[in-house]
Amino acid sequence: MKKQIPHGLKSIRNDKVKKFRKAPVAYSVPKLKDFSAASLDKAADKLRSALETEAEAIDTWDQWVAFRDRWVARKNGIVTQVRETWLKNAPPSAKAGVGKAFNATKKLVEDTVDGKRQSVMRWAEERELGPPEASKRGFSTAKEAVRAIYQFERLDITLPGIPRPLGAEHPVIKTMNEIVSVFRNLGYSVQEGPVIETDYYNFEALNFPLNHPARDTQDTLFIANQESKPVRDRLLLRTHTSPVQIRTMEKLKPPIRIVIPGKVHRNDPPDASHSPMFHQIEGLAVDTNITFGDLKGTLDHAMKALFGSSVKTSFRPSFFPFTEPSAEMMVTCFICGGSGKRGSEPCRPCKQTGWIEILGCGMVDPNVFEFVKDNGYDPRKVSGFAFGMGADRVALLKYGVDDIQLFFQGDVRFLRQFA
Ligand code: DAH
Repeated sequence: MKKQIPHGLKSIRNDKVKKFRKAPVAYSVPKLKDFSAASLDKAADKLRSALETEAEAIDTWDQWVAFRDRWVARKNGIVTQVRETWLKNAPPSAKAGVGKAFNATKKLVEDTVDGKRQSVMRWAEERELGPPEASKRGFSTAKEAVRAIYQFERLDITLPGIPRPLGAEHPVIKTMNEIVSVFRNLGYSVQEGPVIETDYYNFEALNFPLNHPARDTQDTLFIANQESKPVRDRLLLRTHTSPVQIRTMEKLKPPIRIVIPGKVHRNDPPDASHSPMFHQIEGLAVDTNITFGDLKGTLDHAMKALFGSSVKTSFRPSFFPFTEPSAEMMVTCFICGGSGKRGSEPCRPCKQTGWIEILGCGMVDPNVFEFVKDNGYDPRKVSGFAFGMGADRVALLKYGVDDIQLFFQGDVRFLRQFA
């Protein structure tokens, strides 16, 4: 009876493979003696090192094409041979293991072939010279072609340079910098803190008790899978810049005067006046004998510096867990000058009231000082005021922009107007 050629060996009749067999490194897929993990590993190792050796030797597009056909051609490529000789012949008990090894090998071969294609392409494309083009020009390899071009090319310093377009400060950042500089001129320094915050700093130490409804007003975005931690250690996206008040008081002894610019997040659906990401500027002054009069004087001065000396301020009672008493501050509308009208038209930014609500503020609640008492903030000895304002809102008003989303969509046609 005619001896049956084992399936896998058929491939060596393939012309392309024969060509490779002449080379000392030529690799062909061996039959497995057994299907144990050990012999599988050994066979896979051999294949891998052959693959590497052959890949390394590739210099030209044509070589890559031959390499690709030899390894991944559907009909009789080495991957196909591995499937036929190793996987198909594996006894049922070894199928799973061989299958795994086959998949890994297949992926490695495909990745290597593709990686090589990219590097051969890159070589030539860097010089806008496709590999087929290189051989048309009489170079046997793309590398050779590139080398030749470099040799004849010289830098022409008389050519005009490439103009780089100048960027511009984003309107929100610009506004924040202006606000910060008003306070710097009053002797305030700048502090920053993390955007991913713990429950402790965002809520607990700011006198938001656990389960207190005031937490609900903040529409907090929580980091997932924190349930196994104690509540105070759970991570969230800070909903305001106020936690940096605590972080700073832990770090610096009184007296302090600081402003805190930064990003904050809340679970608010985006619309013309809301964004899940926005910016705040926080302020905090702590010393002995700080009074509500200091708060009013400081903020009134800051608003005049920001919006013009004719603006007036007004305070009305409010509530924040970390200040007592708390207030909301209004400024006379700097669009209509407080009249509520622009010519015969109603003034939209202030909704015809002549006033714009600009920030929250108040005297630091003694309960807050209790959390940092050990660093010199004994509520019986020190007092302070704090405030927080939305920077995006100020920017909207300042520049007469009617949709906050425009600030965050990255449309250069919009942003260019602020350059
Ligand atoms: N953190 C408050 C908010 O985001 C704003 C605020 C109010 C900050 C009063 C303060 C303050 O420092 O005293 O709604």
